[in-house]
Amino acid sequence: MTHLQNKTAYITGGSKGVGYGIAKVLLEHGMNVAITGRNLSSVEKAASSLTKDASRILAIQSNVSSMQDEVNAIAKTVAKFGQIDVVVANAGVGYFLPFEQLTEAQWHEMIDTNLTGVFNTVKAALIELKKCRGYVITISSLAGTNFFENGSGYNASKFGLVGFTQAMMLDLRKYGIKTTTIMPGSVATYFNNHTPTAEDAWKIQPEDIGELVVDVLKIPERSLPSKIEVRPSIPHKLD
Ligand SMILES: NC(=O)c1ccc[n+]([C@@H]2O[C@H](COP(=O)([O-])OP(=O)(O)OC[C@H]3O[C@@H](n4cnc5c(N)ncnc54)[C@H](OP(=O)(O)O)[C@@H]3O)[C@@H](O)[C@H]2O)c1
Repeated sequence: MTHLQNKTAYITGGSKGVGYGIAKVLLEHGMNVAITGRNLSSVEKAASSLTKDASRILAIQSNVSSMQDEVNAIAKTVAKFGQIDVVVANAGVGYFLPFEQLTEAQWHEMIDTNLTGVFNTVKAALIELKKCRGYVITISSLAGTNFFENGSGYNASKFGLVGFTQAMMLDLRKYGIKTTTIMPGSVATYFNNHTPTAEDAWKIQPEDIGELVVDVLKIPERSLPSKIEVRPSIPHKLD
């Protein structure tokens, strides 16, 4: 994708954190952006802080765990911008507890959001992606390749997402659709009820993931970076 100007990105979970950072950088590169989240006022607030140009941003309430929500959100994005060139399946949640304390509800929320949510998003956008020979980026995690104590549900969702994305990549490239999964280490976000502070300066910043997305999108047509690990350069903790 040599030119990003006037292309459209649909980003799930763009009201804060990684999705917000990606939206910011893609807007800076001239793209139109739709962002989603479960809470409408948060998504609308994020949209108006991202840009004052309402013609280039769309805030949508959608829960990725609902296929109908994603179908409706994709339709709204196409109605406003006419096409979808890039889908960033970013929305995710995490609960980190010993297995015996992990509840059934927490397990289902992680699998339904982090894994089924990505399936729903890409399925709903597939017709549009085929038309544009578009790009799918999924946000997995280093937790999709490294397992750890208290991570059973989150690890399951992110290991599953890596396998799903890699196999889907092989299917979709036949249509000229590229798929990349990005696997970050610690990012300074609101994840798991965290609030970023100055002490998070050592972590990857959300905009850094945005810059990585731009690099991925701009790689020459013949090449497809299918899986990318990214971690803080200075390890304040094991990452
Ligand atoms: N932070 C890290 O260190 C880190 C590291 C590796 C990977 N990741 C991954 O990065 C992605 C983004 O996380 P983050 O760190 O940016 O967390 P965050 O700051 O908590 O942001 C999560 C975003 O996802 C949205 N969201 C959550 N559940 C959703 C659902 N069911 N449907 C639609 N939107 C939903 C949230 O909005 P609402 O709450 O309003 O829905 C919010 O916009 C996740 O997939 C996470 O696993 C994060």
